[in-house]
Amino acid sequence: MKMRSNWLATILLVVLCTSLATADNTTTTTVAPTTAATTPVPKINVMKSDLCKKCVCLSNPDYSQIDCSERKMNLLFSVDEWKILQNGDVTFDVIKFEHNNITNLTGFPSYPVKRLYLGFNHIETIAKSAFANLTQLTKLDLSHNKLKVKQLDPDVFRGVYDVHDYLPLGKMIELDLGYNELHSLDPDVFEHLPNLETLILSGNTFQVVDHNAATAISGLISLKTLDMSFMELAELPDYLLHGPRDLETIILTGNLFDELPDDLHLAPNLRELVLDENPIGNLTGDNVFPTLPYLTYLSMSYMPDLEEIGAGAFSELQNLTTLILASNPKLGRIDVNAFSKNTTNPEILAYPPMKKLHIHNNNLTTLEHKLFQRWDLITELDLRYNYWTCDCSNRWLIEVLMVQINNTTPLWIHDVNCYQPNALRNLPLIQLSTEENRLTCSIEGGSPSGSLFLIGLLVGILLCIPILLGSVAIWRRGCLGLNRNNYGANRSLYNRANFNDELHI
Ligand SMILES: *[C@@H]1O[C@H](CO)[C@@H](O)[C@H](O)[C@H]1NC(C)=O
Ligand SMILES: *[C@@H]1O[C@H](CO)[C@@H](O)[C@H](O)[C@H]1NC(C)=O
Ligand SMILES: *[C@@H]1O[C@H](CO)[C@@H](O)[C@H](O)[C@H]1NC(C)=O
Ligand SMILES: *[C@@H]1O[C@H](CO)[C@@H](O)[C@H](O)[C@H]1NC(C)=O
Ligand SMILES: *[C@@H]1O[C@H](CO)[C@@H](O)[C@H](O)[C@H]1NC(C)=O
Ligand SMILES: *[C@@H]1O[C@H](CO)[C@@H](O)[C@H](O)[C@H]1NC(C)=O
Repeated sequence: MKMRSNWLATILLVVLCTSLATADNTTTTTVAPTTAATTPVPKINVMKSDLCKKCVCLSNPDYSQIDCSERKMNLLFSVDEWKILQNGDVTFDVIKFEHNNITNLTGFPSYPVKRLYLGFNHIETIAKSAFANLTQLTKLDLSHNKLKVKQLDPDVFRGVYDVHDYLPLGKMIELDLGYNELHSLDPDVFEHLPNLETLILSGNTFQVVDHNAATAISGLISLKTLDMSFMELAELPDYLLHGPRDLETIILTGNLFDELPDDLHLAPNLRELVLDENPIGNLTGDNVFPTLPYLTYLSMSYMPDLEEIGAGAFSELQNLTTLILASNPKLGRIDVNAFSKNTTNPEILAYPPMKKLHIHNNNLTTLEHKLFQRWDLITELDLRYNYWTCDCSNRWLIEVLMVQINNTTPLWIHDVNCYQPNALRNLPLIQLSTEENRLTCSIEGGSPSGSLFLIGLLVGILLCIPILLGSVAIWRRGCLGLNRNNYGANRSLYNRANFNDELHI
């Protein structure tokens, strides 16, 4: 019985296997014609190829790149080299040709590269449709070349020709044109890049964003990041920020703005703004930030002319969590109402939810306690390299904030030093926060400024004695006067009575 059932089972198994195998055969035979047509050539072992001897190849499951930087190349790969890549067993996502001697960029053959780095060459011309065969390209770096407006033709970025029109380079989301010789842009230059999210134009001396350039940029409706640093700009044209509704990051470092750019309110979804190294003056009067409800990151550092942050300067940035306001050598005053905003309830002020406040290397002497309501939520507070005054006006800074910094970012308690008074110069503030070294700001306590306190007390007493004597004298005279008045009143009453009496008589 047992034997027979085993036999049955094996027969069943054999039948099953053969049916599976035939099923396999049938599927392979149906697929065979197409695979046979496309893979006659065996895959080339790219990592062992000559190409990877010439350049540095790297391949692992997360990242694959071929780096041909600094190879003194005049051209991209030869036809044979491209064949190796195209038929290789590794597909490189990243190709680098930086720091070579490429002057004319001819087209690329088909290859599914995702990021292409051509920076630091001498590229002057680019063929039309040069990148059309790179259909997977997401990032193109053409920075540090010699591109001029005329050579950067819209057709350069054309996609493949399909039936009766050119397709866009639809996957391209980042284009770096920084540090070329551009002074403007063709108004249609990005027409084949409808999904561009990041555009870098830094280091091109535009001086003015003219109508053509503004048209090109404002047409990028998917744009999220715009880098226009070091372009010698003093203002932005009105309509520049109208087009890209989702603009989240604007970088304007190293320009010539002497006040805040006018039209920031036209980028209401702005999340990050960098205005470093501009000669922007005081943030007072009209020169304060407009309402940017989503702005979380603001950097205003290395500003040679910034002396004062006035009331309301940041009041309309009610989502600000990071402020980098550092290395502004003249910045000496931050108004107590710089961040607060009136609410409908006059008793209540709104404050941004600040988490990172970097105000190091300025000319600050004091910090107002009421600048923020919830200092305790600030996890990064950098106060180093300022000119702090170590007296009772900064007692809260010394005894509360310094202890908080010691708990959150202990490295930043060093170099937060006293500048005034002279006797305490270069003393770390944290040393005045301990029980035994506290500033003497009331009768109890003692030590460093104890002598100051004594002088204060003496002056107080000296002033008080005459005042006291004077007021006693006045009181005494006042009392006599009052008595006399009462007496007089009584007397007048008495007189009147007398008068009445007389009248009745
Ligand atoms: C770069 O190419 C130009 C001509 O295309 C040549 O004159 C120059 O010597 C080359 N420079 C280097 C460093 O190879
Ligand atoms: C793109 O590929 C096609 C087919 O391989 C080729 O004929 C064409 O020249 C390539 N385009 C460029 C700009 O090299
Ligand atoms: C702050 O930003 C968050 C999302 O980033 C948003 O939900 C919130 O409404 C913003 N706050 C204000 C005051 O606009
Ligand atoms: C820093 O502030 C002090 C006054 O507190 C002022 O005398 C000095 O000139 C300021 N320094 C600079 C560089 O503006
Ligand atoms: C906020 O309220 C204060 C006092 O009520 C007022 O002096 C100040 O002008 C108000 N600020 C704004 C920007 O309305
Ligand atoms: C700073 O923090 C350290 C470690 O938490 C602690 O030992 C030290 O006493 C603190 N210093 C002051 C002055 O509070």
